[in-house]
Amino acid sequence: MITGKVSVVGTGPGSPEHLTAQAKDVLFESDLVIGYRLYVNHVAELIEGKEIIASAMGKEVERCRQAVEEAVRGKKVALVSGGDPGIYGMAGLLLQVVGEEPEPPLVEIIPGVTAAGAAAALLGAPLMHDFAVISLSDLLTPWDAIEKRLHAAAAADFVIVLYNPRSRSRTDLLAKAREIVLEHQVEETAVGMIRGAGRKEQQKWEVTLENMTCCMEEADMATLVIIGNSRTYWQNGKMITPRGYEL
Ligand SMILES: C[S@@+](CC[C@H](N)C(=O)[O-])C[C@H]1O[C@@H](n2cnc3c(N)ncnc32)[C@H](O)[C@@H]1O
Repeated sequence: MITGKVSVVGTGPGSPEHLTAQAKDVLFESDLVIGYRLYVNHVAELIEGKEIIASAMGKEVERCRQAVEEAVRGKKVALVSGGDPGIYGMAGLLLQVVGEEPEPPLVEIIPGVTAAGAAAALLGAPLMHDFAVISLSDLLTPWDAIEKRLHAAAAADFVIVLYNPRSRSRTDLLAKAREIVLEHQVEETAVGMIRGAGRKEQQKWEVTLENMTCCMEEADMATLVIIGNSRTYWQNGKMITPRGYEL
């Protein structure tokens, strides 16, 4: 009988305050912590003295296989994943890898605060109405499909949350997305950008589709962009999407 298990632990956007009590407990109880170096560093104080395997970006499949192997050997493994593990995180891949095992270990998914929630709170209340979440990363998704989703979301007047607005090799993703949204929405549409939510480098931009060109170059791999719908507005530094209440 397999006694080990893999817990996929969402570590939130990067500040200790955003780590849930459940995530802390699971990290505390684990024998081995596996993860992308940046996310392991975010929880370094909580895992002092534990066995740690930290690896580079792009090694996701290897990390999952290693987590499963160690759990099959009997260890309690915490596989850390930034934000929420089920949102562009490690949860799905881990379940796929576990699905190949003849004798799979137990798996549990520990939710985390996703970047969209953390960034929305810093901007105000932009996600009060229907919203679409789109990753601009074309590493695992063909750009054609991303373009189609951007057109559909903008044409349907969704608030649009953009994850991965910039990759190491593709610096023009956000500019292309902006052009597509501008085919459906006016230049005055409110846009909020947050870089490094909850981290030392945290930065916020209050812009519109028209003038966001001023800061698009500063968007990096830890930036999240929220494009409002036709009713979203900026007021006193807060981005607000009204939900229809009468005042
Ligand atoms: C591969 S996705 C992982 C998302 C993560 N699982 C989550 O739930 O937030 C990485 C993208 O999330 C966004 N992101 C992650 N942490 C962030 C933060 N602290 N501030 C702003 N955006 C962040 C960025 O868009 C980044 O390119």
